Amino acid sequence: MRPMATGKAMATGRASATDQAMRIVRGLQWRVARRSRLLVVRCTCPDADLVCPDGFRLVRVRGNPSAQDRALVDAAMRAVGESVDLVAPRFAHGDDFFGWQAGNEIASFGWVMYRDRRFGPIRVAEAPGRAFTFNFHTLNAYRGRGLYQDLLHAIRVSIGRDGMKEIVGDVDIRNGTSSRAIQRAGFAPLTHVSYLTLLDRWELPLGRPLLDPDRL
Ligand SMILES: CC(C)(COP(=O)(O)OP(=O)(O)OC[C@H]1O[C@@H](n2cnc3c(N)ncnc32)[C@H](O)[C@@H]1OP(=O)(O)O)[C@@H](O)C(=O)NCCC(=O)NCCS
Repeated sequence: MRPMATGKAMATGRASATDQAMRIVRGLQWRVARRSRLLVVRCTCPDADLVCPDGFRLVRVRGNPSAQDRALVDAAMRAVGESVDLVAPRFAHGDDFFGWQAGNEIASFGWVMYRDRRFGPIRVAEAPGRAFTFNFHTLNAYRGRGLYQDLLHAIRVSIGRDGMKEIVGDVDIRNGTSSRAIQRAGFAPLTHVSYLTLLDRWELPLGRPLLDPDRL
């Protein structure tokens, strides 16, 4: 026999039905129109020593990677829920993968691109010696050890040795964890960018950035 619902259970049931309905409404709203607000940051590429955190090795993969390197990058992307379909186009585009490797796994990684950087509908100006960071992750088990900020710093030094002069990055303004780590890694706030995405398809710039990143 099914137990009869108590007043509390009925109230809880109503609350969870309302929560579910709200989640559906929010999901629909998000698909119809969502606003993105980014903090744009910039730093120089210092001539400094490359420091690896204890127990980690810096991995850099680019161009036509070996099967072994490609498998390492694919596994890193898969481990954080990113699509491996993104990997081949990024290498074909000339992007670099950087990560901290511990044993057989990548604990923390991010990408660098050298052209065609967009913040939503806003294309960021290119300049000789300018690079762009994007798509960083640290595996849950390795979070809170400073790997992200150390990786950003290692990237600054590494690409500085290739002759790069500065890096422009971005972070969602709601992502306080990332924003603080980026600034600890030596990046300074430059401007804000906002845009609207309609039906997952059309992107419209909102307002004018304080300093137009298209004319950095
Ligand atoms: C943002 C992110 C890359 C930071 O990686 P990280 O290597 O843990 O960075 P840090 O070690 O510098 O720590 C960042 C913060 O997490 C805190 N932290 C400590 N222990 C933690 C733990 N076990 N789990 C999560 N965060 C922890 C740190 O204290 C620090 O907080 P603070 O800024 O208030 O001081 C990681 O949280 C992540 O992958 N997030 C999801 C993807 C994302 O947001 N990427 C960045 C935008 S592209």
